[in-house]
Amino acid sequence: MNILVIPNTYSENLETESKFEVLNHLEEKVQEWIASHISKRKLWFSSDYLPADEKMNDDQESIAKKLRERVRGIKDAVRVAVAVNLLTEEGLPHFHRLISKYLGDQSFWSKWNYMWTAEEDRHGAVLRDYARDGRLFSFKEIEMMQFHYIESGFNPEWDKDPYKVFVYTTLQERATQISHKNTGTSVGSDEPLLDGILSNIAADEAKHYTFYRNVFKAILEVDPNRALLSAADIMPAIDMPGISMPNFRDMADVVRRTGIYGPRDYKKIVEEAIKFWNIELLTGLNDAAARAQEKILSIPKRLEKVAEYIERRTLQKTFSFDFIYNRILVFK
Ligand SMILES: [Fe+2]
Ligand SMILES: [Fe+2]
Repeated sequence: MNILVIPNTYSENLETESKFEVLNHLEEKVQEWIASHISKRKLWFSSDYLPADEKMNDDQESIAKKLRERVRGIKDAVRVAVAVNLLTEEGLPHFHRLISKYLGDQSFWSKWNYMWTAEEDRHGAVLRDYARDGRLFSFKEIEMMQFHYIESGFNPEWDKDPYKVFVYTTLQERATQISHKNTGTSVGSDEPLLDGILSNIAADEAKHYTFYRNVFKAILEVDPNRALLSAADIMPAIDMPGISMPNFRDMADVVRRTGIYGPRDYKKIVEEAIKFWNIELLTGLNDAAARAQEKILSIPKRLEKVAEYIERRTLQKTFSFDFIYNRILVFK
């Protein structure tokens, strides 16, 4: 007897296609969310904060002049956080490509992707303009890091699964929101312009977060069994594109030690997502989905252990980074 062997790629493609059907089924809702997003957004541009015109009035000229003076008061640990935030934002080509690759560029999803990309592009632009006009770094070092960061590519293993895009982006938008907001708070009155810029970026991220988490909630309602498997795969940890950069871990460690973003923040993000998506209350699942549900519900406990472990092992340490002239940062 001949047994028909279905190659993995074939079944994978079928799986992907049927997930697309679910996503296309959401069109009406998604169009509404896009319209609501547009009606609520406030478009601002880098030049609103950092005037750079050929012809400027006295007020605008004075902003530019005072900036460098005020930037001098920004602490090195906060400079590191701004560098991380800047590089994360400048990773936009990676994210645009992933969304396009996983959601296609023919449907209403591409409208969202283009719009989202245009909004996100302002984040990298304003931080780069700020760092340059204010002379926050040894700039060439930042430029080289950005170059390598883009050049290295970013290919998370999402198994052609478009659902994973929405889990990842939900967590990622919330993480960047927190990181920008807390960096702004750390700068505080030392440099209100930077605080203002970061608050506005954070407000954008909050709106993106709302969109992505709503989409995934709708997917869960239509296709809970497969959606839970996707979520269980992504939620334990989200990798950032910069993970391969040589000093990224040290930079992330400084950001954690400064209280801007760390494992406890990620734990809160996961808890919030579990609650919003009502994961605990989902019933009528198949065995695999029930196991995925259990796995997701156990993630916060595991993240708590990771956080405790890292905190226990946190000893006094010094750091230095070439983009701030290798000045020594001491953490006790
Ligand atoms: Fe952003
Ligand atoms: Fe965003």
